[in-house]
Amino acid sequence: MSLKICVIGSGAREEALKDIISKSPLCKGIVCSAQDNPDLIIFGPEQPICDGLVDYYSSKGIKCIGVNKKFSALESSKLFAKKFMVNHGIKCAKLLPIESDIFPQVVKADGLCKGKGVKVVYCQSEKDEFTRKIPKPYFIEEYLEGNEISFMSYFNGQRLINFCPARDFKRLTSDIKSPNTGGMGAYCPVDLTEIQKEKLNIYLELLQAALIEEGADFNGFIYSGLIWAKNDWYVLEYNVRLGDPECQAILNYLDNDFLSIILNNEEPVYRSGYSACLTIASKGYPDNPIKGDEIILPQDDRVKVYFAGVKSENDRIYSNGGRVLSLCTVAENPFPLLKNYAEKIIMEHKIFRDDINIF
Ligand code: AMP
Ligand code: GLY
Repeated sequence: MSLKICVIGSGAREEALKDIISKSPLCKGIVCSAQDNPDLIIFGPEQPICDGLVDYYSSKGIKCIGVNKKFSALESSKLFAKKFMVNHGIKCAKLLPIESDIFPQVVKADGLCKGKGVKVVYCQSEKDEFTRKIPKPYFIEEYLEGNEISFMSYFNGQRLINFCPARDFKRLTSDIKSPNTGGMGAYCPVDLTEIQKEKLNIYLELLQAALIEEGADFNGFIYSGLIWAKNDWYVLEYNVRLGDPECQAILNYLDNDFLSIILNNEEPVYRSGYSACLTIASKGYPDNPIKGDEIILPQDDRVKVYFAGVKSENDRIYSNGGRVLSLCTVAENPFPLLKNYAEKIIMEHKIFRDDINIF
């Protein structure tokens, strides 16, 4: 079996998917559009998944890797996700009354907001300002304190195949009040204690049972945003896709064929050391990034560079978005290597986090 595969989406996550998939013996070729008669469509971003395109193309007889419309509400409606968790005994932050004055607390808009619908607020005026500008409905939940992991699983229609825990760095800078971004870097694996591993297995059993009980019949990725608080894992969010940049870290860490995992139910096998990814963004990101800087990349075979927001003209490349490049490597100590590479990139308005590391 060798397939013509379409990857939907155009960011660094999708570039990494295409890079890894194109090396698989199960891949005959990559096409860019669902009009090119692919044998398989892999969905990257949430929007087409939440718009129901998995259901649409599946109904045309094309095999799709993506969560179906019904379960995409795990990401597109935080209230749906909350009910799903509560109904199946999955731990999550407690809902608070909308007028709660216990601070800090967390305000969450119900719908898809590209990372802008959630904020930890520390006082009433901050709450008022945020709730005025987000889409309605929104809800309030208890603030949990702890370290977070991004846990990605593949549901094959019957059971979960789990990847190793990853971690992303969502804030623009190290300041806890700096804005949420799509992720300024990521690494995997995250080293867990024995108790954390045990509790993670319990959570994953609950998630799998919940999906089966609710009649899930898709092949797709579920991302659990987990926080270690009160000696257990609590779910902060679900996404119905691979995380960006966590996906780049995981895919480059694999020592076996990604397509064999999603098509033939193989368990993931990993390389040694850590796999890391560093985002090069453009000044002004996330709100108003400067575009059009010429980019010149240093030569270093240890670093893979995926284009996120780049355009090319006459053999030159230019920044063309907030998230511009995704730098990846696998090493015992990967971040110093990536930061060193990042410093040498020529791009007038580049920004990146030089404080992130494995912890
Ligand atoms: P979400 O989109 O729900 O994952 O939220 C984005 C980020 O907000 C998370 O990665 C956390 O850092 C933070 N966050 C969300 N919910 C909570 C919570 N209940 N307690 C503390 N931090 C939270
Ligand atoms: N890195 C977080 C996300 O993809 O939502």
